[in-house]
Amino acid sequence: MRGVILSLVLGLSAGMACAQEAADSVAPEAGGAGVVVTSDAVAAAQAAKAAGQPVQAREWMVAVANPLAAEAGARVLRTGGTAADAMVAVQAVLGLVEPQSSGLGGGAFLVWYDGATGEVTTLDGRETAPLAATPRLFQDDAGEPLGFFEAVVGGRSVGVPGTPALMETAHRRWGGVNWGSLFDEAIALAEGGFAVSPRLAASVARDAERLASHPVTADYFLPGGTPIAEGDRLQNRDYADVLRRIATEGAEVMYHGEIAADIVRAVREAANPGVLSALDLAIYAVRSRAAVCVPYRDTQVCGMGPPSSGGLTVGQILGMLNGHDLPGPDSAEAWRLIGDASRLAFADRGLYMADSDFVPVPVKGLIAADYLARRGALLTGDDALPEVAPGAPEFDHAWKYGPGADMAQPATSHISISDTYGNALSMTTTIENGFGSRVMVRGFLLNNELTDFSFRSHRDGRPVANAVAPGKRPRSSMAPTIVLRDGKPVLVVGSPGGSRIIGFVAKTIIAFVDWGLDVQQAVDLPHLVNRFGTFDLEEGTEAEALAGPLRALGYEVAIGGLNSGLHAISIGPDGLRGGADTRREGVALGE
Ligand code: GLY
Repeated sequence: MRGVILSLVLGLSAGMACAQEAADSVAPEAGGAGVVVTSDAVAAAQAAKAAGQPVQAREWMVAVANPLAAEAGARVLRTGGTAADAMVAVQAVLGLVEPQSSGLGGGAFLVWYDGATGEVTTLDGRETAPLAATPRLFQDDAGEPLGFFEAVVGGRSVGVPGTPALMETAHRRWGGVNWGSLFDEAIALAEGGFAVSPRLAASVARDAERLASHPVTADYFLPGGTPIAEGDRLQNRDYADVLRRIATEGAEVMYHGEIAADIVRAVREAANPGVLSALDLAIYAVRSRAAVCVPYRDTQVCGMGPPSSGGLTVGQILGMLNGHDLPGPDSAEAWRLIGDASRLAFADRGLYMADSDFVPVPVKGLIAADYLARRGALLTGDDALPEVAPGAPEFDHAWKYGPGADMAQPATSHISISDTYGNALSMTTTIENGFGSRVMVRGFLLNNELTDFSFRSHRDGRPVANAVAPGKRPRSSMAPTIVLRDGKPVLVVGSPGGSRIIGFVAKTIIAFVDWGLDVQQAVDLPHLVNRFGTFDLEEGTEAEALAGPLRALGYEVAIGGLNSGLHAISIGPDGLRGGADTRREGVALGE
């Protein structure tokens, strides 16, 4: 994991690709057109991360999942761009170098702290279900749920991508740099080639069978039937062409015209076809939504509300813990409190949280101080709660739902940025499962976000809040977060990891706020996550030492890999500090 590629491949391909060229390919190792430049800043950031030290800066910082994407963001910030400008450049590169996690074919949530006004705003670029989707989308003829990968692979799981529209909306609202120029670096890398990272190579090798299911995807990731390997120089001219169109004509080209038509065709002609239409793409809109903010100790924790469960569930966990002291990260008692608060929050999440444009979600009731104090009082015993049940938050509609099942799988990527203007940006971006639906079109992968809906439309005779409906957005666990103290941001954080995102983010905030760890220490702190009763402890870390004490408190314990991808920036009187997850290949860069 630490032997990450430090080279930056720049320069335009000598032969510019034409749109018809089907030659997304692994370029020959020698004699190619790419220029290899070593980045000292990335090397220094990797060394800091390996030593468990945060990267320090005064003016700006970017922390993301891949060094090439971090460099693209850093160039924008260094030359006076805003955090929104840098995000566009970062996302364009991530879609190329980390295509398994996010990209133009996916969706994202963005939390923005505005340095000029002090306001926190969010943008919802979540995918939508096609208008032709029914609650039976992921059920067989007998009404039973499909197996997860039966649903994922192919066109059926593809929702309308939101990321391109979100990039443009964020840039229009908060950007300052010329839109078109923000794609230059990604276009150059796509045409000139980039070195396949260890993580991408390993992901392709692991998923080769599913990637082979779609011919365009197979040609790109498995040229000649062989998985691309670490260090291969990979070009993606189709992606460069799409970026060039977006750069000159705007994100509109993804929603109308020939690119949109190709997306629809790919979904409908894929194995396991979907029902996406040109109209679904044409009517897509990014939503601006109020942030969900919950007081925690001396801070306000602000995150993404519905259709994400991230802000509410992280907020509930922390809100319940307000009445309790957390002795320290080595203490089983601290983890009992965190773990059972999380179980209680997940019980509410399963029953109440979904797209609030379609179902009544008691957003205010779920984070009301008196409600969280009552739920937090359930934690006062000595042992694990024998069972947990959803609470009864104040509800402005009398409408009862049945509990939904959780299928979210870990993929996704997180971007944290702080700029010279005092703005802060926290954005979690995804195509859902690793490589999404495995359907590739014009150099990018289409999401499988619709499998974040409940496959069951009803349970115990009641409708499930997160059931599929036309135009609805599937519930997410993504939790891009900005923590404020005295109205100013002190921590920007988020992570991939399916529904464990919630635990990873809550832990990092607790480590920073309660235990005084710096961002790198807080990110690196071993994970202990409890969603549904079993305590997941991170394998090969000091968390394993807590297995015995937690079992003694009555928990079932499972030890295994917990692969977060936390990227965090702390902001204080002594400047900026960046932390990048040692479990992944990202870096924090700043000046
Ligand atoms: N697909 C990951 C999430 O939205 O939680």
